[in-house]
Amino acid sequence: MDLSSKVALVTGSGRGIGRAIALKLAEVGATVVINDIGKDANSVAEEIRALNRQGLAILADVSSSSDVDRMVAEAVAAYGRIDILVNNAGITRDQLLLRMSEEDWDKVLTINLKSVFLCTKAVLRHMIKQRWGRIINISSIVGVVGNTGQANYAAAKAGIIGFTRTMAKEVGSRSITVNALAPGFIDTGMTQQLAEKQKEELQKRIAVGYLGTPRDVAEAVAFLASEEARYITGQVLGVDGGMLGV
Ligand SMILES: NC(=O)c1ccc[n+]([C@@H]2O[C@H](COP(=O)([O-])OP(=O)(O)OC[C@H]3O[C@@H](n4cnc5c(N)ncnc54)[C@H](O)[C@@H]3O)[C@@H](O)[C@H]2O)c1
Repeated sequence: MDLSSKVALVTGSGRGIGRAIALKLAEVGATVVINDIGKDANSVAEEIRALNRQGLAILADVSSSSDVDRMVAEAVAAYGRIDILVNNAGITRDQLLLRMSEEDWDKVLTINLKSVFLCTKAVLRHMIKQRWGRIINISSIVGVVGNTGQANYAAAKAGIIGFTRTMAKEVGSRSITVNALAPGFIDTGMTQQLAEKQKEELQKRIAVGYLGTPRDVAEAVAFLASEEARYITGQVLGVDGGMLGV
């Protein structure tokens, strides 16, 4: 796998899965734009430069169209192109539906789903001009099977799957592929919020017997971003240690 002539933009890559994706893409040669709302993005950019790759941190809220337009303009001004977009930024605001506030519904749908629309739209113009692109959207197993207490999150993640399949049809003829990953339970800040007992229960449902690492997700992203994956589009790839149907 060689992404050395490619420029990648990874949203929410200041920590967790996004950070691992940014580092993996850099390892296989890509120039990487690290987006986050937090300053962690700067240290990931430094890690990437320490690998002798180009890395640029851009602080922006991916749920704001003006921030997204600025982010994409800054990335294109710096590197002239964006070849790979990884829509990774996401949050949870868990609550059983009857206790879920309208604000928590809107926040999760806006940050997890509207952001995918905004970032894809802003980057797509450049990919269409280049007649090459890779868009990889981070959904979740929860968007496929649902999860108690996560109606907002599951709806957003299922929405990403419908969006992915539609975009694959709209831009396939331009050599742009659009795929989604559906990670299972990955050991990050997001899952560290779970109670020990909940984690033990979950572990029993994972065929391989352990939580995944951000790196496990990053490996799948790097493959889907490569030239070798050109005939794979509109797919939802589970990265879940064998949870579906377990
Ligand atoms: N951890 C898991 O088990 C798991 C499983 C399936 C899917 N996912 C998905 O993977 C993605 C990454 O999750 P993670 O576990 O690394 O979470 P995380 O909370 O560790 O990291 C998410 C990052 O997104 C950033 N972010 C949040 N809102 C943003 C915004 N408006 N604009 C820009 N950046 C923003 C955060 O600052 C943070 O750095 C999310 O989309 C999540 O839903 C995670």
